[in-house]
Amino acid sequence: MTEQDFIPKTYSKTLEKGKVTWESPSNIALVKYWGKKKDQIPENPSISFTLNACKTITTLSFAKKDLSTALKVTSEFSFEVILNGEKKDNFKPKIQTFFKRIESYLPFLKDYHFVIDTKNTFPHSSGIASSASGMSALALCLMSIEKQLMENDVTLSTSTALSTGSVERSIDENYFNQKASFLARLGSGSACRSVEGDLIVWGKHKEITNSSNLFGVKYPFEVHENFKNYQDTILLVDKGEKQVSSTVGHNLMHNHPFAEQRFTQAHDNLSKLIHIFKEGDLNSFIKIVESEALTLHAMMMTSMPYFILMKPNTLEIINKIWRFRQKTGWHICFTLDAGANVHILYPEKEAVQILEFIKSELVAYCQNEQYICDRIGFGAKKID
Ligand code: PMV
Repeated sequence: MTEQDFIPKTYSKTLEKGKVTWESPSNIALVKYWGKKKDQIPENPSISFTLNACKTITTLSFAKKDLSTALKVTSEFSFEVILNGEKKDNFKPKIQTFFKRIESYLPFLKDYHFVIDTKNTFPHSSGIASSASGMSALALCLMSIEKQLMENDVTLSTSTALSTGSVERSIDENYFNQKASFLARLGSGSACRSVEGDLIVWGKHKEITNSSNLFGVKYPFEVHENFKNYQDTILLVDKGEKQVSSTVGHNLMHNHPFAEQRFTQAHDNLSKLIHIFKEGDLNSFIKIVESEALTLHAMMMTSMPYFILMKPNTLEIINKIWRFRQKTGWHICFTLDAGANVHILYPEKEAVQILEFIKSELVAYCQNEQYICDRIGFGAKKID
């Protein structure tokens, strides 16, 4: 698949107005994406667990623009954003940029006025990034509109794609998900891993069939029982605004002294995970996941300018986890995204003991003792 395969020719149907709703989860990377090329093409492949409880629910209402004003507005996108029932004009520039990036793939965008009504199941400004779940939910809503505009008797599949020249096609599920992931990526890179579950690879990797820099794909190989229903308890260490956005962080990987070694390491870690997932090797899994988290933050600390997103309590938690693991042998480990919060990952069969430890020893390090119990999920859902 290339970018061209996501450009539709014309639409066979017309739609005056309507409404679609999708809920889409967040995801947590095991091998991290950090560094990108133009158009959100990742410098290295990444793999993530799709989450279950942390999600965004978005209703997209659309109405065809009034013809009398159409001339005036055709050169502009027309939309409003509502978060938790309140109008949010400060979200508009991000959506405007997103619409601009995806316009050639969804040529209907300027024909409609949209109301994006969205809410998250996790507290806003909890430090949990809502861009992955938010952008994927919006991309899926837009795909549902495109599907309705294309609904017809001939099915468009990924293999036949759009290159066949015919315009009268509807969209099959595989193409729908691929294009939703492709669009979500243009909103926020890691959002492309939120459309499906439960393990998603994004970025070309030589051993992973069909992996692509353009969209996320389901991890195609055997996964041992040990990794089924894996748990993720998210400790909210710092809920403040990040001092450095991930966009800035990604860009600091250009001319970074360790960039090339880091990108090679990500490929190698993904290769190692193939065997680990198959064998259910939890100890080797822990080594890779924790090393990835610390490498991500090491890249931040060694860029120019350098920065630190971890907080003292992030380190307190990491040290407590290491001590507890050494003492008990339970397979608890941590990962981090671009912030101070800690994701604690552990197998379902050890959940009782590990959750007990989290509650008694770690929650005290969270802001207002806040934490979220989540686990692996299976991707976005359309709500009727
Ligand atoms: O999708 P972005 O641009 O917000 O980047 C996310 C990067 C990390 O969360 C730090 C790692 C990842 O792979 O999700």
